[in-house]
Amino acid sequence: MSKVVLITGASSGLGKATAEHLNSLGYRVYGTSRDPKRYADSFPFPLLALEITDEESIQHCVATILEKEGRIDVLINNAGVGITGPMEEIDIKAVRENFSTNCFGPLHMAQAVLPQMRDQKKGLIINITSIAGAMGLPFRGVYSASKSALSIISESLRMEVKSFGIQVCTLAPGDYATDIASRRYHAPVLEKSPYKKVYQHSLDTMNTHVDAGHAPHELALEIEKIITHTKVNVHYHQGPFMQKLSVILKRILPANQFEKLIMNHYKL
Ligand SMILES: NC(=O)c1ccc[n+]([C@@H]2O[C@H](COP(=O)([O-])OP(=O)(O)OC[C@H]3O[C@@H](n4cnc5c(N)ncnc54)[C@H](OP(=O)(O)O)[C@@H]3O)[C@@H](O)[C@H]2O)c1
Repeated sequence: MSKVVLITGASSGLGKATAEHLNSLGYRVYGTSRDPKRYADSFPFPLLALEITDEESIQHCVATILEKEGRIDVLINNAGVGITGPMEEIDIKAVRENFSTNCFGPLHMAQAVLPQMRDQKKGLIINITSIAGAMGLPFRGVYSASKSALSIISESLRMEVKSFGIQVCTLAPGDYATDIASRRYHAPVLEKSPYKKVYQHSLDTMNTHVDAGHAPHELALEIEKIITHTKVNVHYHQGPFMQKLSVILKRILPANQFEKLIMNHYKL
């Protein structure tokens, strides 16, 4: 029997590439978008409406699939948004919104699918975090923190649901060439800001990295591998070599030395 897979945020980028790939392999894939009508009929899998910050929308999305399929075997919490800005200046409302999408939303999705996964005594939840969540990056602190929080939540959840036959993991991508940068919340580069020059330089660096990132299809292949494992690891990291190396360096180097590397990279 083909697994039923729910992928949030499948209208573009990594979610779309993954949904298309799994669909082509015969999985019963359901993707989501806040506004599926915008993409009418251009997807080979059903694209359901989902606003991940809205409880009613979450319940409705999950109930629609359960009604049709009777089960959800895999939840891929992929929907997410970027945010940049100097910590001193960033709008707290934008910070809250980012956490609502990147951290509280995925937790809420997990809460919605878990009762049925517990009933069937199996299930897999893959939370898409980010390599940026393994460290505090300058002018990306909120994004790093929201992904890091989701990573820690995943560790706790994983232990709590193991005895029900449910597996949880995170998959942290480095840079992949999607349009995520165009949809990011950017705190404005203020003319009189003391951070103007360094913030602008960091923005340029970030955008170059995303554009030069790996092809989204490569991440889809990694997700396929995870789904087919019988024993799933706690964390996976994928993407450019130097970005994966940074996760290891963060663990083994003294904090001050690691900070120096990051500051040199961003010319701070
Ligand atoms: N690309 C990278 O380099 C990279 C690196 C590390 C981590 N990631 C993570 O990978 C995931 C996918 O990113 P991507 O690069 O593929 O970006 P993307 O192309 O912008 O895709 C984001 C998806 O999330 C959905 N979405 C955004 N806000 C939502 C909300 N409030 N409720 C429901 N859905 C929402 C969007 O759908 P609609 O607009 O149609 O609703 C879209 O399908 C994100 O979690 C991102 O943080 C990406």
